[in-house]
Amino acid sequence: MKYAYLGTSGLAVSKLCLGTMTFGGTTSEKDSMAMIHRFLDLGGNFIDTADVYTGGQSEEIVGNSIRDRRSEVILASKVRMSTAGHVNGQGASRKHIMDGIEASLRRLGTDYIDLYQIHVWDQATPVEETLRALDDLVTSGKVRYIGCSNYLSWQLMKSLAVSEMRGCARYVSLQQQYSLLNREADREMMSLCLEENVGIIPWAPLGGGFLTNRYSRGPKPDQGRLSAANGGESSWEYRATEKNFDILEQVVKISEEVNRTPSQVALNWLMGHEGITSPIFGASTLEQFDENIGAADFELDGEQRRHLDEVSCLPDEYPGRFIRKFKRQI
Ligand SMILES: NC(=O)c1ccc[n+]([C@@H]2O[C@H](COP(=O)([O-])OP(=O)(O)OC[C@H]3O[C@@H](n4cnc5c(N)ncnc54)[C@H](OP(=O)(O)O)[C@@H]3O)[C@@H](O)[C@H]2O)c1
Repeated sequence: MKYAYLGTSGLAVSKLCLGTMTFGGTTSEKDSMAMIHRFLDLGGNFIDTADVYTGGQSEEIVGNSIRDRRSEVILASKVRMSTAGHVNGQGASRKHIMDGIEASLRRLGTDYIDLYQIHVWDQATPVEETLRALDDLVTSGKVRYIGCSNYLSWQLMKSLAVSEMRGCARYVSLQQQYSLLNREADREMMSLCLEENVGIIPWAPLGGGFLTNRYSRGPKPDQGRLSAANGGESSWEYRATEKNFDILEQVVKISEEVNRTPSQVALNWLMGHEGITSPIFGASTLEQFDENIGAADFELDGEQRRHLDEVSCLPDEYPGRFIRKFKRQI
């Protein structure tokens, strides 16, 4: 397993992060615990959960699994989604953050979270309020580093500027959807994160399973995540486009060349992509885990990466192409 520093921090995280969104749901508690131990035994140290995953069960299972190995784990969780049936049981307000950390620490059975992330931008709360509350958690030792997720680039840039102006803790990471199927971050977010050294930890690196080559062109399948997700990012309607099937064909072709599986090729491309720290991969079963973790022990060559870059890139658009055209040269 390889490691990288997370953003501007001195925190070394494994180049693959284990996502636990299905733990206690489609992944049984027994398999979830076995998966965490297998991941740690193979050198993985970075585990991502959230207060809302499987109604809190994911945090409980993660907490129980790592109890005897707490110091070797970089534990990431999130706050911001709705967790209580009252008007303040959601958001990135000081109140919900302070309530949220206590509930997460209780479920996780620990007295600190390594990386505490705002799950999605909150339009209602001033940035200063969110960052001051997070900074207080860092000062108190309940949280060690802070990150955000699902932000627009101006929202991240404003947050970084406010942290600097107010002398508050700064986001070290951004958890954003990014994969061969979704390169929206290339418009602005990627260059911002490179410029400001914010580590990108992409979610849905396999497009919810699409890039494993288990789905084919045609009607909506009746099995697997993409059969169920309606309106979510991994819904059949979003994933099953002509462009995405063309990308999948290229992934399958390269997987045959290198004698690896499509999932390993898709993850390896992402792990080696500039600006990406650690893809957060999901696995519903131990078999899927064993396949996906195999992405960490080989490297695609430059030519293979170029083919994947080309088939998946965004169309060239204004103002990016205009700015590039007038790049100064002396
Ligand atoms: N910040 C956010 O808003 C956000 C949003 C989503 C996720 N996340 C984080 O990112 C993590 C990963 O997200 P994700 O689950 O969408 O990622 P993903 O890795 O793109 O998809 C994982 C799913 O793909 C299928 N799959 C994986 N490996 C497979 C294999 N080898 N063969 C066949 N099918 C395979 C499984 O679905 P089946 O059940 O169909 O088998 C599995 O649950 C989550 O656990 C969570 O920690 C964060």
